Amino acid sequence: MSHYEIQGGRPLCGSLAVHGAKNSVLPILAACLLVPGQCTIHNCPDLSDVSATLDILRLLGCRADREGDTVIVDASALIRWDIPEHLMREMRSSVIFLGALLARLGTAELSYPGGCELGPRPIDLHLSALRALGAEIREEQGALCCCRCREGLHGREICLSIPSVGATENAMLAACGSPGLTTIVGGAREPEIVDLQKFLQAAGAQVTGAGTSAILVQGGVPLHSAEHWVMGDRIAAATYLCGCAAAGGEIQVTGTAPDALTAVLSCLEEAGCTVHTGPDWIGLTSRAPLGGIGPVRTAPYPGFPTDAQAILMAALAGGRGATLFVENIFDSRYRHVDELRRMGADIQIAGRAAMVSGVGRLHGAAVRSTDLRGGAALVVAGLGAEGTTQVSELRHIRRGYQALDRELRALGAEIREIP
Ligand code: UD1
Repeated sequence: MSHYEIQGGRPLCGSLAVHGAKNSVLPILAACLLVPGQCTIHNCPDLSDVSATLDILRLLGCRADREGDTVIVDASALIRWDIPEHLMREMRSSVIFLGALLARLGTAELSYPGGCELGPRPIDLHLSALRALGAEIREEQGALCCCRCREGLHGREICLSIPSVGATENAMLAACGSPGLTTIVGGAREPEIVDLQKFLQAAGAQVTGAGTSAILVQGGVPLHSAEHWVMGDRIAAATYLCGCAAAGGEIQVTGTAPDALTAVLSCLEEAGCTVHTGPDWIGLTSRAPLGGIGPVRTAPYPGFPTDAQAILMAALAGGRGATLFVENIFDSRYRHVDELRRMGADIQIAGRAAMVSGVGRLHGAAVRSTDLRGGAALVVAGLGAEGTTQVSELRHIRRGYQALDRELRALGAEIREIP
């Protein structure tokens, strides 16, 4: 089984350009379905989740070609509106195709996105938003059959009780195909939602307000070919910064706006790192070990991102001092903790809380990625640990990181993939 082998304790040094954001490019690729023409998406990372999305687009009848970091999608002639179970299971975020297909074709048939590594991930908010716009949705034997009602889709107010990223995106896409004004109240404010809005605007859609909790969509406007540059991946940036924080050294991460990572950067500063920023870069200097910090509570943007929880925890577990983490977004997002314990971490879990008592330095061990960010956290831990760490189940990591080992090697880490 292929795995990463990491010799810990090598300080990181140098500069790295972060790849395009996974959580931005996936909804943008789905949004290409709304356009009866060609969309050119630059800074498109080479991730297994992106490949799975391109497979879905091709199955639906799109041309989808990659040339380096650019992907060209032509959705002029769609041939079907159903996505089979094996493709849906590949990637849970494929539920975003529901809104996209509904907007373009007025009908969609998807299998239910299955069980999840982060605990239950309901889609009730997605479905009620689409129903509000006039979709009729039947759930039968694990399948979701969705079509517009007899009167057709129509814009209206949608109130989200939780600022769900996916539900906000699904509502935005469906609203583009729903004539009239839709107001999405209480939507997510993540930077990736702003990026989706930029793409939709480039295609001629009348969408405003992303980045605030009220998004306005004037739907039913014909869309046209568009070109878009995907924002940098702030969670990948956070991963490299936490890796440097754990191992020591000095790195600069370019291609990502520091404003999108304020909550993470202030934690790293509090732990003893020095952080410098420019308009689209972040520099970090660390003389590990890190100190403990005040409670880290995950929250919707601009709060501390749940996607960075495991990664920061891994860095602090090998520091000195205690830090309390509280995971407020997902129920089961501490699966990396057992693996960190194999490396000597002292972490006590009680419900949503995890108390990390820094042990000064972790030690290398054979560990297993439990999910995407949990896997990245083990790499961060391995970079700072004494001795050799082997991280297996790389398929999780490949969902969201392009050539993680190569990028880290370029910064001086001793990491290689053993086939
Ligand atoms: C997205 C990101 C994921 C990130 C998460 C939180 C993508 C592809 N994925 O996931 O990486 O970890 O945001 O920032 O962009 N909820 C409901 N009902 C729903 C939908 C969500 O109760 O219909 C709840 C969830 O259980 C969770 C919370 O809302 O507690 C937030 O989830 P959500 O923002 O929807 O996460 P995702 O869009 O799945």
